[in-house]
Amino acid sequence: MQTTSTASFEDLLSSRARIGFTGRRPTAAGTVQRYDFGGGRPDPVSFPIEDLTTAFAQMMAEVGREALTYGEAQGYSALRELLVDKFRRHDEIEAEPDNFLITNGSSHALSLVISAFVDVGDPVICEAPTFSGTLVTLRRHGPDLIGIPVDDEGMRTDVLEERLNDLRRQGRRAKLIYTIVNFQNPAGPTMSLRRRHELLRLAAEHQVVVLEDDAYGELRWEGEPLPSLYRLDQNGLVARAGTVSKILGAGTRIGWILAPTAMIPHFQGFKFDGGTNPLVSRLVTYYLRGHMDEHIEDLIAIYHSKRDAMTETLEETLGDTDAVWSRPEGGFFIWMKLPTGGEAKRVVELATKEQVTVVPGMSFMPNGGGEDYIRLAFSYASVDDIREGVRRLGRAIKASL
Ligand SMILES: Cc1ncc(COP(=O)(O)O)c(C=O)c1O
Repeated sequence: MQTTSTASFEDLLSSRARIGFTGRRPTAAGTVQRYDFGGGRPDPVSFPIEDLTTAFAQMMAEVGREALTYGEAQGYSALRELLVDKFRRHDEIEAEPDNFLITNGSSHALSLVISAFVDVGDPVICEAPTFSGTLVTLRRHGPDLIGIPVDDEGMRTDVLEERLNDLRRQGRRAKLIYTIVNFQNPAGPTMSLRRRHELLRLAAEHQVVVLEDDAYGELRWEGEPLPSLYRLDQNGLVARAGTVSKILGAGTRIGWILAPTAMIPHFQGFKFDGGTNPLVSRLVTYYLRGHMDEHIEDLIAIYHSKRDAMTETLEETLGDTDAVWSRPEGGFFIWMKLPTGGEAKRVVELATKEQVTVVPGMSFMPNGGGEDYIRLAFSYASVDDIREGVRRLGRAIKASL
């Protein structure tokens, strides 16, 4: 029976279902225009269709019917072994397959960690601004969100220390510090080594779990990679979320949590599901075994040229205003402070008329603000569309003033 009335079930909803419910369905893509600088979507032209097709055929020939059965509860073990090898080679992390839980993208990984630690009213610390998707998940757990500003070195650990001390004075303790360490979404900075050490010192002193989100770390074209919080941590307090969404394709829905083995059952306890995407886990493993490093090299070149196309055209179009935008060393996003008098809401309206999608700064703020910022993703549109879209956006911004 089709009905639009909710009256028949509303009073049956669990208290969990009511926490932070806005009535809106979370959507990844939103309304997408011709010139799409909205979501953090990978470049579809980069998808390695032929090699994936070959890997799939090879995998099915070798594995056969087994590929279509339920998977291992912690995730496909060969994928976890591949991740052990990847992190040993790229981040000098000595992990075991048991340190990994395979998840439905890193959104799911973040959600499991948040579910394991956060009760209603718990203080939870995040960057301000931070990834809007995680804000949706966090709000559904009803925490007291505490936003910490970011600058060129990432999260301001001096402010973090003040907030942690405030909580201590109130007899409260934060449960989680959520941070996006590399090419922060949306603001762009990479957390400096000094701040990484400082954050871990504070987490240990105040006994807070750190949720390190590194969705973009592989996609670096400038600067030197820095050791992850997980690697630097000496206290078993860091859980790190990762994904193949940005280095292979978001439709794979393959991500993971890398965490101390003692934490893993607490996350896994929230997922009884026959193993996450066993078939795709096998495909991803077969493909990445032979192609990971070279494919990432290709992607870095693609996104580097797109970042350049966007920053160059922004300079041409808005260089005569006092707008300020980031120049990330990797990742997918540019964060722009609008010219004086600019309002994100109005810019989004006018940009839509120009067929350009951008995301208003307010979407990324844990405690309000962001009205004078917008985020632009350069990942999805072609270089030509980036140039044309930014010209149109520039017109919209100037018309809004
Ligand atoms: C910072 C950050 N974390 C996590 C995710 C989630 O990605 P996925 O669930 O596709 O792995 C995204 C996607 O945009 C992101 O930007």
